[in-house]
Order: sequence, then C-alpha cells, then structure tokens
Amino acid sequence: MSTKIRRLRSQQWFDDVSDPGMTALYIERYLNYGLTRQELQSGRPIIGIAQTGSDLAPCNRHHIDLAVRVKEGIRDAGGVPLEFPVHPIQETGKRPTAALDRNLAYLSLVEVLYGYPLDGVVLTTGCDKTTPACLMAAATVNIPAIVLSGGPMLDGYWRGKLAGSGTAIWEARRLHAAGEADYDEFMDMVTASAPSIGHCNTMGTALSMNSLAEALGMSLPGCAAIPAPYRERGQMAHATGRRIVGMVEENLRPSDVMTKAAFENAILIASAIGASSNCPPHLIAIARHMGVDLSLDDWQRVGRDVPLLVNCQPAGEYLGEAFYRAGGIPAVLAELHRAGLLRGEAITVSGATMAGTLAKAPTPDRRVIRSVDDPLMASAGFIVMSGNLFDAAVMKTSVIDPDFRERYLSTPGAENVMELRAIVFEGPEDYHARINDPALDIDDRCMLVIRGCGPVGYPGSAEVVNMLPPDALVRAGVDQLPTMGDGRQSGTSASPSILNISPEAAVGGNLALLRTGDRLRVDLNAGRVDLLVEDGELERRRAAHTPPELRNQTPWQEIYRASVGQLSTGGCLEPATAYLDIVVRRGAP
Ligand code: FES
Ligand code: MG
Repeated sequence: MSTKIRRLRSQQWFDDVSDPGMTALYIERYLNYGLTRQELQSGRPIIGIAQTGSDLAPCNRHHIDLAVRVKEGIRDAGGVPLEFPVHPIQETGKRPTAALDRNLAYLSLVEVLYGYPLDGVVLTTGCDKTTPACLMAAATVNIPAIVLSGGPMLDGYWRGKLAGSGTAIWEARRLHAAGEADYDEFMDMVTASAPSIGHCNTMGTALSMNSLAEALGMSLPGCAAIPAPYRERGQMAHATGRRIVGMVEENLRPSDVMTKAAFENAILIASAIGASSNCPPHLIAIARHMGVDLSLDDWQRVGRDVPLLVNCQPAGEYLGEAFYRAGGIPAVLAELHRAGLLRGEAITVSGATMAGTLAKAPTPDRRVIRSVDDPLMASAGFIVMSGNLFDAAVMKTSVIDPDFRERYLSTPGAENVMELRAIVFEGPEDYHARINDPALDIDDRCMLVIRGCGPVGYPGSAEVVNMLPPDALVRAGVDQLPTMGDGRQSGTSASPSILNISPEAAVGGNLALLRTGDRLRVDLNAGRVDLLVEDGELERRRAAHTPPELRNQTPWQEIYRASVGQLSTGGCLEPATAYLDIVVRRGAP
C-alpha cells in the first residue's frame, strides 16, 4: 500500500494547465450529457464502472441496475462515476465457446483502462469468464480496482427438489437418454433451474470464480455469495462504490492485493468449496498478468490436501441461497483460518488484512458449511496429472462419488488405479455422431477420450470432456464412464474427468497419437496417465501423424490461435503477459 497520491491520473486529461488545448478537447465531450467542468477539474477521483451486463449477457444483466447504486456510492464518497461497456461474454450462448472471448474482453478492457481518464475501476463480474477477464485486465493495468459480483440466482426447484443451474442439465440429459423424461419435461427441468436474475446458483465456474475473487481480497468481504435479487446485493453495490474512492485516495492497487499469499488463499478456498475445474487456468492467467509466479504445482502443493467444506452442487446438495444464508465465503475462510491454513496477512480491498476481515465472519450453518475437523471429504483439491500422453492435466476429486470409486478405484491390490480401453473422439461432433455406434463395443471398462478441443484446436477450448456413456449403457445403470480430453468441462458437471490436457492434440501433444482400442493406465496415487505401448511405438505413430487442418471462422480466431498458450499455463495470450504494471511503466503518477 502506498501513501496518498497528490495528483490523480485523470488530471493528466482534465486538468493540465500546460496544454489547455488538449485539456479542453478531453473535457468538452464529457460535458454534453450534463457533467460540469467543475466536477471534472476539482481533483475528484474519476471512477470507471466496467459494465459486463447486457441483453446478450443475461447472467450479468442486473449489473445495469446495480450500477445505479454503485454510482451513488461513488458520489457519496466524493468520486465521479463513468460507466462503460465490456465486451459481452455469455457462457452458454456464445459460439464456438465463451472461452474464446475471455482474452478478447481482457484485451479490450486493458485498452479502456489504460487509454481513458480513469483513476480506479469497479469490475462488475458474474458469468464464468467475465470474472477472470476483468481481473486479468485490472492486473495488467494495475490501477485501483474492486470486484462487485452480480451474485447467484435464487435456488431453483423442479417437482419439489432443488434444481441447480447447469447441474440440472446433466441430470435431465441422463433422464432423457434413459427415456425417463420427454422433451417437455426435459425443457421444464432445465429452465426451472434458472428462476431469477443472477449467475448460476450452483458452485459452477461463476460462483467459484467470484468466490476466488473474494478470497483473493479483490471484493469486499461477503460479496460473492449474496443472491442477485437480495437487497444485500444492492447494499453491497453501494458499499463497493464508496470503497473504490477510498482505494484511489490510498492508491491501493491490484499489486498490493493480489500477492502470492492472496493466490494461495484463492487455491485454498477452491478446494474447500469444491470449485470448478475452470478455476486453475483462470487463476493462473490472473497471476501471470499480475506478474506473480503461480503454476499447477502451486495448486497441487497448496490445494490437494485441503478438505471439502461446502455442501453445494455439483459436489454436494445445496445451492447459492443456502450457501449465502450459511455464512458464504467469510465463514469458509474463517474455518480455514482457524485450522491455520490461511495466509491471514494478505491485504484486501477493504484495506484490512484477510485475518482482520474475518473477525466479523458469521457462524456457519453446519449443514452447508462444515468444519475442517468434520469435512464432507478429506483431500478434495485438484490432482495434477501427467504421463506419456501429456505434461499436465487436472482431475477434480471432490466430485468422485461412491459409485465411481466402487466401480473404478477399488481394485484390490491396486487402489486408485484403473486400466481402461480408450475410445477416441475427434471433437464433440464426432462424439455425438458415434457414441451410440455398436461397433465401438463400449462397456464399463472403457475410457471416453476427446481431443481437438483445446485452446488452439477448438478454438478457445470447449467444455466437452464430461461425455455421457452410450444410451444402452445408461439404461443398464452405468451413467458415468471415466473420461479424458484436451478440452475443459463445465464447472456445473459432477464428472471426475481428466481434463485441460496440455499440450493439446492440435499443437502436437501425444494425445494426438492415441487410438481407439489402446490400453490406458490411470494411477491417481502417482498422478499419472500412461498409454501402455511398447518402446518406440509413440515415435512410430508420430512419424505417420498428419496434424488436422485448422479452419478459422472469424478474424479473432486467427489472432487468438496465433498467440494463445496452453491451459496448464492459463490459456493466456502469451505476448500480453509481458505487459505488467503498464500505467506505472509509462511514467504516469
Ligand atoms: Fe452464466 Fe452460468 S451460464 S453464470
Ligand atoms: Mg462453463
């Protein structure tokens, strides 16, 4: 944290006596909707509100209303708000995949934060990629920034039972495939899971990433879990607007908050909440843009043995409302702190340390938030895997259910080891076309493998690894097979897939050389997946391998493919990671 700054960044635009010509030009257009010169020249902090909500981005759309309260908070604290749009990212509606747009939204937000007269920014986050995109940009530019989550939807119900957004789709698909739900029932079940404004109410990528933002110290305490329609959400919007003005006065910047300690706290909370498998690449991307050294090894080292405390779907039973009422992220952080796991010295946007903010943490409802001594599952973090097919992949252990453990991981003498026959698909179209083909002879000793779905291959990396078994197998009671791939999977999926495989097939990873019928050995104790072939076979296959032709449908896909890295290192635009702290580097105050 630095001392109070004398001259604000925005004054370079609005109050530069040495160049009245440019100053007049900079100022005049901001007056045409009623702002005054006095407001812009009085040395008051100019605060951006990065608006991620729109009709195209419904998960974040209520930020349009929340921004009214944010502006009132900014005004009350003496700042001047300027709201502006962020490139929309809608997780479920964007083709070919919303992941392609995370780096595009990042890139454009960097330009806005760098190039306009802003002293600080409120980041309105929510739907999956909006949170990392905003945090990545704030990290690169490094002006004071605070996260305002939009909050989860109200809890959904279908025929008297909780129906979680995203998670209900997997269940509905299973029922539909098994012939137990017709088209209308299928549609009703899925839409019942989305009963109000807000982002996904499950512990999918949206709630996970907003929880990680809070654990990073980038939002006010308690922000992540407040359901979108609750009055507390509007109150949080007001408090967030007030606070960013104070942060500008203190020059409290992302680099003060997002330290290595903060990233370790985010990894801890990821294990404790049963976070989405999209969190490792997103958090690594934020860290790289912050200039903090963070890798999958840190996920393994810090997160692997942390227990699952939060009983939310898909790893558990409850949804966002229950999680909020049970105490939300402050209650979980307090449990981790009591157990001596948390880096309590990390500074948060509140100005207090993480330990300091937890003094007021609520007492949790134990049905939803367990203690470290009585967790839902011990060692619930991601396992980082490698082997002769790839250098890195992750497996989400918190969703390994008793059936899966019994069927695949309980071989006497070889606990946590499976030997399986590979069934290989070239992307989701191939999977859908052939999964029910009897010639594949798929049984419960098979592993479904999908490739061509990574950042370069898809492009953007698709959420497709959690593949359902053939209908006949589902009808016979096998509703889950081990799966693996170079794509991702939805954070709302309860499938313990091996995913985010890096390097992906499209850039020449050995996964490209796998064939249907090959034997695979998966050893969770050793964190390895190996293709069982004799020496020299992979080299022979590589010599005969022709990489598939990649076709771009838009200009951005071409630019993205040319500069994106692998999921193991965050799927960043690699050239962008060299631009650190750019406001300071260009000599601004
Ligand atoms: Fe937007 Fe889940 S689809 S939050
Ligand atoms: Mg998703």
